[in-house]
Amino acid sequence: MLTRKIVLTALLISLFFPIISNAQETQPVVVSVDNPKAEIQPTMWGIFFEDINFAADGGIYAELVKNRSFEFYKPRTGWKIKAVSKDSSHFVIQNRDAINEANPRFARITLKEGWNNFFISNSGFRGMGIKQNNKYNFSILASVNAGSNFLLMIELVGEKGEKLGETSIIPKGKDWKKYEAGFIATKSDLRASLRIWFEGTGIIDIDMVSLFPGDTWKGRPNGLRADLVQLLADMKPGFLRFPGGCIVEGYDLKTRYQWKNSVGNIGDRKQIINRWNTEFAHRLTPDYYQSFGLGFFEYFQLAEDIGAEPLPILNCGMACQFNSAEVVLLDQLDPYIQDALDLIEFANGSPESKWGKIRSQMGHPESFNMKYLGIGNEQWGPQYFERYALFEKAIAAKYPDIRLVSGTGPGPDDDLFKSAQEELKNLNPYVVDEHYYRPPSWFRENATRYDNYDRNGYKVFAGEYAAQSLFTCSPDNKNNWECALSEAAFMTGLERNADVVYMCSYAPLFAHVDGWQWTPDLIWFDNLKSYGTANYFVQKLFSTNRGTHVLNMLQGGRPLTGQAGLYASSVLDQKSGEIILKLVNTSGIIVSRNIILQTSRRIVPSARMTVLKNDSPDGINTIDNPDSVKPVDFDFTLKGKNFEIALSPYSFYVVRIKLVK
Ligand code: AHR
Repeated sequence: MLTRKIVLTALLISLFFPIISNAQETQPVVVSVDNPKAEIQPTMWGIFFEDINFAADGGIYAELVKNRSFEFYKPRTGWKIKAVSKDSSHFVIQNRDAINEANPRFARITLKEGWNNFFISNSGFRGMGIKQNNKYNFSILASVNAGSNFLLMIELVGEKGEKLGETSIIPKGKDWKKYEAGFIATKSDLRASLRIWFEGTGIIDIDMVSLFPGDTWKGRPNGLRADLVQLLADMKPGFLRFPGGCIVEGYDLKTRYQWKNSVGNIGDRKQIINRWNTEFAHRLTPDYYQSFGLGFFEYFQLAEDIGAEPLPILNCGMACQFNSAEVVLLDQLDPYIQDALDLIEFANGSPESKWGKIRSQMGHPESFNMKYLGIGNEQWGPQYFERYALFEKAIAAKYPDIRLVSGTGPGPDDDLFKSAQEELKNLNPYVVDEHYYRPPSWFRENATRYDNYDRNGYKVFAGEYAAQSLFTCSPDNKNNWECALSEAAFMTGLERNADVVYMCSYAPLFAHVDGWQWTPDLIWFDNLKSYGTANYFVQKLFSTNRGTHVLNMLQGGRPLTGQAGLYASSVLDQKSGEIILKLVNTSGIIVSRNIILQTSRRIVPSARMTVLKNDSPDGINTIDNPDSVKPVDFDFTLKGKNFEIALSPYSFYVVRIKLVK
């Protein structure tokens, strides 16, 4: 965040713009500091992670080799085989599924005497991002089946064909062994590829060909891309929901997310197609699979690293209802319920328990202290609620402290949603997941959505939301400032109703600029860089200014919910002793308001405001211009508990005022 020091009051900001709405003509906005309304949950603002848009493989999971174990439906996807003769038997895919069901395929390379200059190369996920002076760790499983004296030369090759680094290995013996070699890249390249030259005579088998950068998050092997994790950590999220989203459901039940296939040895994690592979005809990504290198252990570890509560979502015996809509018969639901019980043991059980032992062997003997668990994603209809009820009964019986999350379907106000609300009266989830992918105007108009929610009804998890500049699933949706500002307006309503709303997350989270399927998204990246959208900064400002208690902030006895385009909420942070105001001006003119801090306590004169604004609602950050909409901090001096604030057109202000201890 940029910081500027100013000694003038916030009022001076208005000097840069003509004042059209004069604060003197309107009633003051009164913030009741001494009578907090409700507690704000530490989980209030969190993160929704889904492996969509190359978010995991090709994204946060730092593996650079695509289809490293030849398990894609077309096993040569991502690979180029340089022929040495017309005899195709020099490179074949072998299948050993009878003995290795999780990783059946491997490549067999036959080199006859005199056959030189044979290589295979991998193009990565839309190329490999390589950084000069960074270390790269190559590894491969190999078995020398016949012959000897094999030498494998490993090279990184830039987009224009130049060599960026090299190393070599000498595989020996028939037993499958892992060979590793590290090297430093001499140049950077956005779209490099990996080339492996084979020298020798005989037959060599290879599998799990892997290349990781050395600078992963916390330097972990099999680790995550540090820049992307940092963007998440900077949000100080209250929770991390994973692994989705529709990916939990699968196109059909066969392609549902099964957490047990995502833990243990990475070579034994059974890959499947990514359900977003063929979802949109306008954004086909036939090379999108799930390696599960980022699996449930790594998700829990990520949550722990960034200080977020882990919130896994599990399949409830139903595939995506927009796709196959396959449903498991009720009398065959037990294995699904058992998966949920086993997951709790995996996350929290003692290292002596069956699943706790696997967690412990993976390097985390301590419990992950998982408290929340989602059953089903965006399911609807009676099939969902009868299945949810069976999960609820079994989990409550064995683990009564686990807080369950139920869904309400895909929309926030349609008939499916209304019937879900009725069904939920007979159930007992801790929070209920509501989704809104709607136009920006919907977000502004719905800032009052929770003002009149039943205070004795369910608590809300605003689990997936994003303003759609055109329409849901349009490939032309933009992460523009109008969308982000409208979300900020809406979020003042979430915050004002923190007694009902316990958790919130924007969705989806990540998108690769060359490999996405769904837009808008919170964070975009290419193979080397990443940036936060305007929406990201809105989320971050709410999350890093969460506070502990909601305060009343009223003008003429009413909250600010769009009057003159203005939206506002305020909180108290009892730990830091600060009042935090959030004000959103969605209009194209300056709006001034007198603010009265109603409190018997003294305030510290020096205060800080953070301003996120753009002159145009169309303003947008891009990979080449990531700073168009970015927060700027100002220090200013307050002369008392009453002050005037002039809000720039199209702006979001966060004001932090300290109370004297
Ligand atoms: O966020 C993208 C998709 O939108 C999610 O997978 C799904 O839950 C919703 O329909």
